[in-house]
Amino acid sequence: MNRPNRTTAVTALLVAVSALALWIPPLRAQAAPDAQKAVDAAYAKFKTLKEGKNADYIPALAKVDPNLFGIALVTTDGKVYSAGDLKTEVSIQSISKVFTMAQVIQEQGLDSIEKRIGVDATGARFNSIIAVEAVKVVQGTGAPEMNPLVNPGAISATSMVKGASADEVWKKIIGFHNDAAGRSLNVLQDVYKSESDTNQRNQAIGALMLAYGYIKTNWQQAVDLYTRQCSIGVNARDLATMAATFAAGGRNPVTGKQVMDAAKVPGVLAVMATAGLYDDSGKWLYHTGLPAKSGVGGGIIAVSPGKFGIAVISPPLDDAGNSIRAQRAIADISNALGGNPYAAARKSGS
Ligand code: DON
Repeated sequence: MNRPNRTTAVTALLVAVSALALWIPPLRAQAAPDAQKAVDAAYAKFKTLKEGKNADYIPALAKVDPNLFGIALVTTDGKVYSAGDLKTEVSIQSISKVFTMAQVIQEQGLDSIEKRIGVDATGARFNSIIAVEAVKVVQGTGAPEMNPLVNPGAISATSMVKGASADEVWKKIIGFHNDAAGRSLNVLQDVYKSESDTNQRNQAIGALMLAYGYIKTNWQQAVDLYTRQCSIGVNARDLATMAATFAAGGRNPVTGKQVMDAAKVPGVLAVMATAGLYDDSGKWLYHTGLPAKSGVGGGIIAVSPGKFGIAVISPPLDDAGNSIRAQRAIADISNALGGNPYAAARKSGS
């Protein structure tokens, strides 16, 4: 008597559960259109924005099309959302500073960068020589209060990558960038030549850093390799994948390769948060909460830890040397998706 009833009840339950499963939209599927919608909305909103000016102190950068505009967002589970130009490569410029710093941290530990270069914001322009002269030194340890994202600190970080020859050091630098991007990147030779011909200021900084003992080896080699790393060609998708590698705890979410130890990533993100947009880093963090890094080629990367990496390429810059459209687009998209790591998780609909 009981058996048919129990079977009926179980069948009814199964039917109800299947109906519910069909009815409840899976969370992933819900997030996907949101991300694409946010990317599309920012692209449409800022496509015609005409503020700012290409960098021209490196002559090759002045020739890049100022209308170039590409957005890419890569989630920590490897999904890619994009709009605009994803193919055209620009030089990575100062964004490379993050990856060379990360490489030194990976190879030599978090202390290495803190003791030799420092992890404090200078509040000065990225190529300030006065900042080198005025740097405070921690009593006892002799550690300068600088950071690896301004030119003096970045040239020093490049000088710290170990290798018996310039070629060996370069292979490690480009290798780390390749692993984070998930493909083989190339140096844009016209940019490298243009910057090498006009980088007397960075040469002066390199020599000064040697004089102060922050660079221990060949400063000319360090400046040359730094110039080469700044000339690496990247598109918006490359940059977003590189940012997503940090968002995913050092694992490239597209290739699955663990590029750096997860435990070392927060140190990298902290320096990006405090100094990634130079003297405008505070304002940027105030509005987005995102560790980020800009380059004078027009790219900006930003990291929402555990969620996504995002990148925008648009060459016209503001006075601090940061792409205007990239800042606006990233802020809009991240805020639409709840990317600010300082904000408590939102409940849907709130
Ligand atoms: O050393 C320079 O001046 C350039 N290669 C890089 C500067 C840069 O990208 C500053 N970023 N906003």
